[in-house]
Amino acid sequence: MEKVVRAVHAAASRARDGNGPSIVFLTGAGCSTACGIPDFRSLGGMYDTLRPEVLTASKEQREAMARDPTLVVNWSLFSQNPLPYLELRRPFILNQGAYKPSLAHHFIGACDKRGVLRRAYTQNIDGLDYAVDCISRERIIPVHGSLSQAACENCNAPMDFDAFKAAVKENIKNIYEPNQGPPASKPIVCKECSLPLVKPTTVLYGRSLPETFFDNAPADTAAADILFVVGTSLSVSPANQLVSMCSHSSTLRVLVNAECVGQDLGFSPSTNTNDVFLSGPADETLFELAQALGWESDLFDARESMAERSASLFTA
Ligand code: OAD
Repeated sequence: MEKVVRAVHAAASRARDGNGPSIVFLTGAGCSTACGIPDFRSLGGMYDTLRPEVLTASKEQREAMARDPTLVVNWSLFSQNPLPYLELRRPFILNQGAYKPSLAHHFIGACDKRGVLRRAYTQNIDGLDYAVDCISRERIIPVHGSLSQAACENCNAPMDFDAFKAAVKENIKNIYEPNQGPPASKPIVCKECSLPLVKPTTVLYGRSLPETFFDNAPADTAAADILFVVGTSLSVSPANQLVSMCSHSSTLRVLVNAECVGQDLGFSPSTNTNDVFLSGPADETLFELAQALGWESDLFDARESMAERSASLFTA
């Protein structure tokens, strides 16, 4: 922790000297679990709890999802049958805005407020980075897209999000509370190309990441004094490549996570002095770091706009 505190202070001092912000974040679902959103790969996560038998799909498609749950967010399945994806995502589409950001999200905000945030790459589609007022919009790169806009996956024609939500409510069955919503699902058809492929603008496996990722990643990783990797299993490429793109001789790579990950990407806290693993829940770790930095007041001031569990750290 001490090494990280010194590095953040040094980055702040370089920024004050006019060298620009040099802290980069790569975040994942573990940043939002405190907000009540399950991650993907933990026990109880989205893949662990996927129930192919309740999704509208053929026997073969259900068997394939049981073998590999990531298929539910894969273009190969969506292009044949968009319903499993829409059924799985129905509550998140309809409840946009129901969640508040975590302390970890607000820690990123504190970095921006203090002039050290160069970029926040988020793999999350929940939009919670955008719910932190003090993170400048241009510093956020939503690597896997967003749940808060809708478009046709075939022709990219946008659909008004309120109209999309209404269509989801009316056409997509509720697999979580089956006595609510329609009894069977119907796909949402694009008005431009007539294909039934309208969905939130999230990135499916097998589809390309936004260009802004490829445009910014080389310069951001080259300029990074610190790369904070928070709440991600680092199992998905190319987002996880940010770790290997940062040279461990010039960038302090700090993993804030419940488990040590990224060894296959060269992250090695036992052999590289510039690799640091801060083990434990992201909120608690970043709260401790903020206290050590003397930034606690930034987070305290933001507690009203934090998820309940995150805000409870101030009364613990
Ligand atoms: P994962 O579920 O793969 O990994 C979440 C990581 O966060 C795990 O290592 C957990 O141990 C850790 N974790 C969970 N809660 C935590 C907490 N409160 N504090 C600290 N660590 C915590 O989620 P991602 O790495 O984000 O892509 O998944 C990456 C991509 O895989 C997603 O963007 C999604 C998914 O398939 C697509 O859908 C394309």
